[in-house]
Amino acid sequence: MRTYLVTGGAGFIGSNYIHYMFKKYDNEIRIINVDVLTYAGNLENLKDIEGRDNYTFVRADITDKDAIKKIFDENDIDRVVHFAAESHVDRSIKDPETFIRTNVLGTGIMLACARDAWEKEDGTYPEGKKFLHVSTDEVYGSLPEDENAFFYETTPYSPHSPYSASKASSDMLVRAYMDTYHFPANITNCSNNYGPYQFPEKLIPLMINNALKGKKLPVYGDGKNVRDWLYVEDHAKAIDMVQEKGRLFETYNIGGHNEKQNIEIIHTILDVLREELPDSDERKAHINEDLITYVEDRKGHDRRYAIAPDKIKAEIGWEPETMFKEGIRKTIKWYFENLQWMENVTSGDYQKYYENMYGSKKEI
Ligand code: NAD
Ligand code: TYD
Repeated sequence: MRTYLVTGGAGFIGSNYIHYMFKKYDNEIRIINVDVLTYAGNLENLKDIEGRDNYTFVRADITDKDAIKKIFDENDIDRVVHFAAESHVDRSIKDPETFIRTNVLGTGIMLACARDAWEKEDGTYPEGKKFLHVSTDEVYGSLPEDENAFFYETTPYSPHSPYSASKASSDMLVRAYMDTYHFPANITNCSNNYGPYQFPEKLIPLMINNALKGKKLPVYGDGKNVRDWLYVEDHAKAIDMVQEKGRLFETYNIGGHNEKQNIEIIHTILDVLREELPDSDERKAHINEDLITYVEDRKGHDRRYAIAPDKIKAEIGWEPETMFKEGIRKTIKWYFENLQWMENVTSGDYQKYYENMYGSKKEI
């Protein structure tokens, strides 16, 4: 039975990936999920998985080399899928060091431990050992508004935020391991994800949560920044397909071919919320465009991201499957059906975060 070590599996994409993998492979695989459970990690995301014999959770920090080494010593790991990271740009602007520590040092430690466990005396690796580093399109920087400009695997790195700079650094470490040690790895650079279990600091769940509560919807700058949105399950599938069919040492860009301005996303959320809520629901009365509030812009705000997923389509046959209209409806319904999840993650420290991040933002 193949054993996967998934890092950051209690976060948004990691937990969706674990769900996807058990749905697809059921008892044919074993997954060890290592996560330190920061504010973004939530075991509630995996509660239906917990009872499985072929699933193990280990609470550990990826910067703790002894803890990570122990996992490799005690288990014959075949695949590493490395999601664990600090992932929110706004937080990285306030506190870059945490991002450097987890994203750069943590990735360095994951690579070192995997290499120690896998490399044979002659410098080769046993067949089937693979490390997949999950990264972002934000490493490429910002695109002009020209609709024909896209990020390709060959686009030079030009990160602007501490988050994207730390992810770019981690990608470079993976590349260095591949070039220096012939370490069996792949890098995937994906566009913005949305879907169930996303922490409400990111645009889509934050706007859903605020709208349902009748709170202002804070739009940074002119609201015309563009992101390329991909439904999270499509990302999970792409990661699996890269491990199954991708060429080792290659980078694959993953994107939704679904570019939207932030303000369009907010209007869509308001429309779908109004359609889905019954007239008898008192929240419906306050869900309207008046909630939209323009606030001062994010520092160094990248204007546009857009991926051309040509390589992954041509080589692997992956394409985004979920149309945005369908994905956003599924996402909103999920949040409706999981109000308690939202309550749990937004109680306590979230209030402090929100006040700290948005309390001092000037309206414009
Ligand atoms: P997330 O913030 O929801 O989850 C991150 C997870 O990592 C959490 O469970 C957290 O507890 C864990 N973690 C953080 N620091 C850790 C540490 N030191 N040791 C062990 N675990 C730790 O993030 P996400 O949105 O699920 O993103 C997952 C990965 O995908 C990240 O590497 C991110 O850069 C990348 N990515 C995200 C997006 C997106 O739109 N969210 C897009 C492309 C790539
Ligand atoms: P986000 O979800 O933080 O993802 P990223 O910055 O990694 O792309 O933000 C998506 C876009 O939405 C980005 O252009 C910033 C903008 N945004 C707002 O306008 N208001 C908000 O409250 C948030 C969280 C984001």
